[in-house]
Parts: sequence; structure tokens; C-alpha cells
Amino acid sequence: MATVQVWDPLIRIFHWAVVIVFVANYFFNEKGGGLHVALGYTAAGMLALRFVWGFVSRGAARWSDFFPTPSQLVSHSRSLLRGEGYRRLGHTPLGAVVMILMMSCLAGLATTGYMMEETDMFWGVEWVKDLHWGFATTLLGLVIVHILGALYESYRLKENLPLSIITGRRRR
Ligand code: HEM
Ligand code: HEM
Repeated sequence: MATVQVWDPLIRIFHWAVVIVFVANYFFNEKGGGLHVALGYTAAGMLALRFVWGFVSRGAARWSDFFPTPSQLVSHSRSLLRGEGYRRLGHTPLGAVVMILMMSCLAGLATTGYMMEETDMFWGVEWVKDLHWGFATTLLGLVIVHILGALYESYRLKENLPLSIITGRRRR
């Protein structure tokens, strides 16, 4: 079957790094411990790189390739409501909204984590902690929507999308 590279190596490394950090920091390590902070900063660094990559790379990684417009969102929502698959070699409009929100939560986690960890002013301050928890838990909700969305579109399109974010390749 003819395939084409859609997700470049940087997207894939960013993706799986973020998955590992999120799962480790949300479910496993000591909250605020050395590993938590080190992993959190790693994800923040990857996010910064991904942000710049969106301007300098080619193809599906570019912000201009996937930043959703209202008309694209309407047409994707319509196709979902009709129970049809929406095929695009790159992020889909609704998928892109979830991705941008996930990236924003990561930026919020890094900012509030930094405030708690590196500043005297916000150390131990309750609302900063609450905000950090809020970003983490919103991200958990988005991840669930994201995974269900990827599985649903895979089923609709008869194409293994989870495999594509490992190999980078999709059916042409
Ligand atoms: C993917 C990234 C991250 C996730 C999912 C995450 C998740 C969490 C969660 C769920 C908590 C417990 C919050 C609570 O129960 O109130 C927590 C606590 C904490 N996190 Fe993170 N975090 C991330 C990144 C960071 C970063 C980058 C830093 C620091 C630079 C950081 C520093 C802390 C600290 C200091 C606490 C303890 C707050 C306290 O005193 O209770 N986190 N984190
Ligand atoms: C903690 C869990 C996860 C997080 C935080 C996450 C986050 C992200 C982000 C930020 C992107 C955009 C990548 C970019 O443009 O650089 C993305 C893409 C993608 N993710 Fe995840 N992801 C998670 C888990 C998963 C899992 C378990 C799967 C497989 C079922 C998956 C499948 C995909 C696919 C297929 C794409 C390509 C996007 C598309 O088809 O439009 N993700 N993910």
C-alpha cells in the first residue's frame, strides 16, 4: 500500500515524550519531587521546540497547515454528525483544537510549576497549586477526548492512526 510521511521525527519524539511525562507526573511520581520537576521541564523544553518548529518546518507540523478556521470547524463537525470520516493528511480541524488546548495546558503547567518551584513569592501559595492541578486535570480530560477521537477516526477511515504517530506514515 502506498504511504507518505505525514508526522516528521520531531513531532513523533515530542508526542511520545509528552505522553511519558504526562503519565509519570500525573499518576506515578512524587508531586513536586526532583523527578516530577525534571520531567516537567523536559516537556516544557520540548513544547518550546515544537512551538518554533511550527514556524520553520514544512508540512503537517506547521501552525499555518493546521490552525483551524471557523468554516473548517463547521465542515468537520457536520461530517462527524453525519457519522462520516473526515480525511486529511495532517491534523483535522477539531483534532487541532484539542491539540492546541493540550499544548496550552502544558504551557500552564510549566508556568505554575516554575512559580511554585523557583520563586519565593508563589512558593506554597494555594491558588497557584490549585491552578497547577486544574491544568493537569483539564489535560487529562483532553487526553481522553484525544484518544477517543483518534480511535473513532481510525475506525471511520479504516486506517490505523495511532500507528501513524509511531511510524510517521499514512496511506496516501
Ligand atoms: C506534564 C507536566 C506536569 C503534570 C501533569 C503535573 C501534575 C501535577 C499534579 C497532578 C500535582 C498535584 C497537584 C495537587 O494535588 O494539588 C502536581 C504538583 C506539583 N507540581 Fe506538577 N505537573 C507537571 C509539571 C510540573 C513542573 C514543570 C513543575 C516545576 C517546575 C511542577 C512542580 C510541581 C510542584 C512543586 C507540585 C507540588 C505542589 C504542592 O506543594 O502540593 N510540575 N503536579
Ligand atoms: C498523555 C497522552 C497524550 C498526549 C498528551 C497527547 C498529545 C498529543 C499532541 C500535543 C499532539 C499534536 C502533535 C504535534 O502536532 O506536534 C498529538 C497528536 C497525535 N496523537 Fe496524541 N497524545 C497522547 C496520547 C495519544 C495516544 C495514546 C494515541 C493513540 C491512540 C495518540 C494518537 C495521536 C495521533 C494519531 C496524533 C496525530 C494527530 C492527528 O491525527 O491529527 N495520542 N497528541
